[in-house]
Amino acid sequence: AVDGLVDRYHRVATDLRVSLTDRCNLRCTYCMPEEGLPWLPKSRLLTDDEINRLVRVAVLRLGVTEVRFTGGEPLIRPGLPAIVAAAASLTPRPTLSLTTNGIGLARLARPLRDAGLDRVNVSLDTIDPDRFTTLTRRDRLADVLAGLAAASDAGLTPVKINSVLMRGVNDQDAPALLRFALAHGYELRFIEQMPLDAQHGWDRDAMVTASEILTALQAEFTLLPDPVERGGAPAETWLVEGFTALDGRPARVGVIGSVTRPFCGDCDRTRLTADGQVRACLFATEESDLREALRAGADDEELARRWRTAMWGKRAGHDIDDPTFLQPARPMSAIGG
Ligand code: GTP
Ligand code: 5AD
Ligand code: SF4
Repeated sequence: AVDGLVDRYHRVATDLRVSLTDRCNLRCTYCMPEEGLPWLPKSRLLTDDEINRLVRVAVLRLGVTEVRFTGGEPLIRPGLPAIVAAAASLTPRPTLSLTTNGIGLARLARPLRDAGLDRVNVSLDTIDPDRFTTLTRRDRLADVLAGLAAASDAGLTPVKINSVLMRGVNDQDAPALLRFALAHGYELRFIEQMPLDAQHGWDRDAMVTASEILTALQAEFTLLPDPVERGGAPAETWLVEGFTALDGRPARVGVIGSVTRPFCGDCDRTRLTADGQVRACLFATEESDLREALRAGADDEELARRWRTAMWGKRAGHDIDDPTFLQPARPMSAIGG
């Protein structure tokens, strides 16, 4: 019987985000240093079977209805198609999505679709080749563009694009990104940068805000209020006048204003890291270890009970603007976006 993930503020977590690896094949400057990070040792990573077991517990006992696979870069995990297939075989079947940088998606889009993946979100911060290489420290724009096209062809739709704008780096790219997304039928969302970088270099005053992004877009496009209910979604969306999406509906653009327009009150997320820790929030300072419980022989109900306890303690919000705010010890790349 399902007994859900409820917290003391009456939020219910039905959206599970599973990080499959903390490694990545890009080095986005706002995320990690050139040399990478001290990666998790293999012995601490959940095996494919352990991931499948915890996803099953989440869906069957905790009422999770949507599972998103993240990283680091989840496409570099060899077992990904089989992990997707295991999740797709559950009853009730959860919605399955992936957040990726798109490298390797040209090859994997079809097998992932066949395994049961429903849709993908691809990170792309600029379509200018030089700025892409500066920002990610790798010359891989062509692979990402090929990955986007393959995802669309394979029916992993709607294909969404996530863009982080950095002042003085790619903040001039917002209209060009929207033109590109509209031309290909991708749904673009801009993300406010959050203090989750490994280098602890985030600066509130340098951050490009949601309202600045909207102003930049409105210089070229007419944005109309979106009649569709937002629900717990992080993105606030607008209709782009005069453009249609691939499915014939009006084209949309979104802004995820995590910092200036927080949506913590409607948060429906729970997170599992690649080393088997439950995090109630991106900004949680505490984690709950399911890996050792699992390896010590805990049964499914015991794992479910620990997961409920972890979520009950979820904080009300991220408090980024509070003077006492402290960045969590784990960076975004090890939590999963
Ligand atoms: P869909 O719109 O359902 O496709 O999903 P999504 O927007 O949640 O997915 P995605 O993984 O693409 O996340 C986009 C961005 O939203 C992330 O990179 C984060 O910047 C932000 N985000 C995701 N989850 C959270 C969260 O729990 N809290 C905050 N503050 N931001 C989040
Ligand atoms: N703030 C906001 N978004 C971030 N991402 C990575 N680091 C940050 C950050 N500090 C984005 C990536 C990707 C998604 C998983 O999270 O660009 O789109
Ligand atoms: Fe990799 Fe994503 Fe970090 Fe870029 S933001 S280095 S794609 S984990």
